Amino acid sequence: MRALGASFRTGASAWVSVARAALQRCHLEYSVTVQGPGSTPAQTVVRLAEPSDRDTIYRLRHQVFASELGQHAIRDTGVLHDHVDDHNVYIVAEHGGELLGFVSVTPPAAPSYALERHFRRSAVPIDLRGSFELRLLVIAESARNHGLSEVLLFAALRWSEEHGATRIVGTGYGWVKRFYESLGMEAVGPTAQSGALTLELLSATVCQIMESCRSRIDKVRQRIASGIVDWRLSIPVESARHRLPIEHAHV
Ligand SMILES: CC(C)(COP(=O)(O)OP(=O)(O)OC[C@H]1O[C@@H](n2cnc3c(N)ncnc32)[C@H](O)[C@@H]1OP(=O)(O)O)[C@@H](O)C(=O)NCCC(=O)NCCS
Repeated sequence: MRALGASFRTGASAWVSVARAALQRCHLEYSVTVQGPGSTPAQTVVRLAEPSDRDTIYRLRHQVFASELGQHAIRDTGVLHDHVDDHNVYIVAEHGGELLGFVSVTPPAAPSYALERHFRRSAVPIDLRGSFELRLLVIAESARNHGLSEVLLFAALRWSEEHGATRIVGTGYGWVKRFYESLGMEAVGPTAQSGALTLELLSATVCQIMESCRSRIDKVRQRIASGIVDWRLSIPVESARHRLPIEHAHV
C-alpha cells in the first residue's frame, strides 16, 4: 500500500541508539510525490459533529451495534447512547448532507472510559491515565469498503494527538480486531463478552500507529490534498510531531 511513489528519508537525528529506535522512527521525515491539487470537487466532508448530529449518530449506533452486530438488545426507541456521550467528541464524515460515518474520541478528562464497562482498571495491564479512547467507528452500510474508515481513524488520531494524546486505547472484535492490529494496535488484556461480541482490549502509542500506518496515512493525506476529502477540522492535517510533508500528489 505504499501508494504514489512515496520515498522516505530518515532525519539526521534519528538512529542515535537502538534503544531509542522505535521512538525515532516516528520522526522520520518523508516526502511523497504528488502532482498539485486535483480538480475533483470535494466530496466527503470530515468535521466535528454538531449537537444536531447526535440524534442521527445515536440512531446509526443502534442500527449497527444492536440490529447488525447484536452487541446490544434492540430498543424500542431505536437509539443507542450512554453516559460517555456527555464527555466524548464525534468526528463525522458526510456527503451531500448525509452522514456516512463517525468515530468517537473520549479524552482522559472524561470521568471514565467506555471500555471500563467491560474491563476493570485493575485488570488492565497498562496505565490508562492520559489515554484517549477511540471507539464507535461506524460507516453506514451503503458507504463501506471505500476506505472511509481510514479517513475517520486518521482524523481521530490527529485530533487526539493535537489534544495531547500519547496513547490510544480501544476495543476490537473478530476481523475488526485484526484490522486494528494492522494499524499497529496490540491486544493487551483479557477478553470480555458484550452481547454477541467478544471484545479485546487494544492499545498503542500514537507514535506506533503513525509508524505502522504510514502508507495508509499517505493515502488519506492525498485524498485531502486532492480535494476528494474536505478536511473541516480546526486542527491541521499535518502533525508537527510526526512530520509527514506532502511535496507532490498523484491522485
Ligand atoms: C468497521 C467498519 C467501520 C469498516 O469500514 P469500511 O469503510 O467498510 O472499511 P474500509 O473500506 O476502510 O476497510 C478497512 C479495512 O477493513 C477490511 N474490511 C472491511 N470490511 C471487512 C469485513 N467485513 N471483513 C474483513 N475485513 C474487512 C478492508 O479490507 C480493509 O483492510 P485493508 O486496508 O487491509 O485492505 C465498518 O465495517 C462498520 O461500520 N462496521 C460496523 C461497526 C463496527 O464493527 N465498528 C468497529 C468496532 S467499533
